Amino acid sequence: MSDIVLCKKQNPIILGIESSCDETAAAVICGRKILSDEIISSAEVQALYGGVVPEIASRAHTDAVDEVTARALKKAGIERGELDAVAVTYGAGLLGALLVGLSFAKGLAYGLGIPLIGVNHIRGHLAAAYLEDETLKPPFVTLLASGGHTAILHVKTETEFEALGGTLDDAAGEAFDKVARVLSLPYPGGPHVEALAREGKSSVSLPKMLKGEGGYIFSYSGLKTAVINYVHNKEQRGEEWSRADVAASFQSAALDILAEKAVEAAIERKVSTVTAGGGVIANGYLREKLSALCGAEGLKLVLPEKKHCTDNAAMIASEGLVRYRAGLFSPLSLNAEAYLPLL
Ligand code: KG4
Ligand code: ZN
Repeated sequence: MSDIVLCKKQNPIILGIESSCDETAAAVICGRKILSDEIISSAEVQALYGGVVPEIASRAHTDAVDEVTARALKKAGIERGELDAVAVTYGAGLLGALLVGLSFAKGLAYGLGIPLIGVNHIRGHLAAAYLEDETLKPPFVTLLASGGHTAILHVKTETEFEALGGTLDDAAGEAFDKVARVLSLPYPGGPHVEALAREGKSSVSLPKMLKGEGGYIFSYSGLKTAVINYVHNKEQRGEEWSRADVAASFQSAALDILAEKAVEAAIERKVSTVTAGGGVIANGYLREKLSALCGAEGLKLVLPEKKHCTDNAAMIASEGLVRYRAGLFSPLSLNAEAYLPLL
């Protein structure tokens, strides 16, 4: 690998592969420019079961990984031999699902004699912002909100982070998915709760999310339980209630605090830029809130476009670029990890 490190390019062509959950994705970037960005999703099949069934996901990845990669290379107009590195999610996620993408990437990297770059999925979500703004540079504060993580980070350099806080229990996306179930909405819940919330008013009183005074520690379990209790009480008493109002009230209770705390962190850390990543950042209400609060404080806001907030391979290639530039390559013995710490 040392020879490869010595002839590193400033703007390498990197293939990204993602298969940690129910999307099989491949993308090609050159520097921070996206050349292609392809996804084959098994979400529709998973929705029949109300959530992701790991074995169905693994089989779907096996069927899709070759095709999605071929499509990404074709759309990019890149031959395999022109690739400089293969970046692939190796955790966190469903083990069987991860192994499909990882094994495929290893074979490709080995066959082509180019570096393999193992990427932590959550760091991929953070790196999506680099694709949105080619001039983006740390330091900045990032709000991360996905199905598995909710955190506020101080990003000091492209590879150094400080976690300022996060959730004690459910992640924001997980809370959306659970509340969606109570409202009889399909999986994945987030986009459906958002659509329903647009028809309602934030009129149901729900508990605040923050634990203790100040800080950046969240808890979604009290909020989720309050929504469940509200709905059950109304139904037991035979009283009328509005699903849309519950969705709107939950959405604002769950998201206002994330936007407020991200902005507070940027002010406290004296950084002038806020970025965000993860599926929940696709939420239009949250995007508007972040934009309004950052605007009011004179902070620059970099939000990945919605399709780069939910799982995709361009973000994996983007984190691959960070690691390529830092010379952080992976051995072919790299294993998939169901759990990976963020930092
Ligand atoms: O980042 P992601 O695609 O996968 C993980 O790494 O977890 O995030 C998926 C999560 C799901 O919980 C989904 O309900 C939530 O993001 N989500 C949303 C929206 N779109 C996706 N939550 C709220 N509003 C949305 N528009
Ligand atoms: Zn994700």
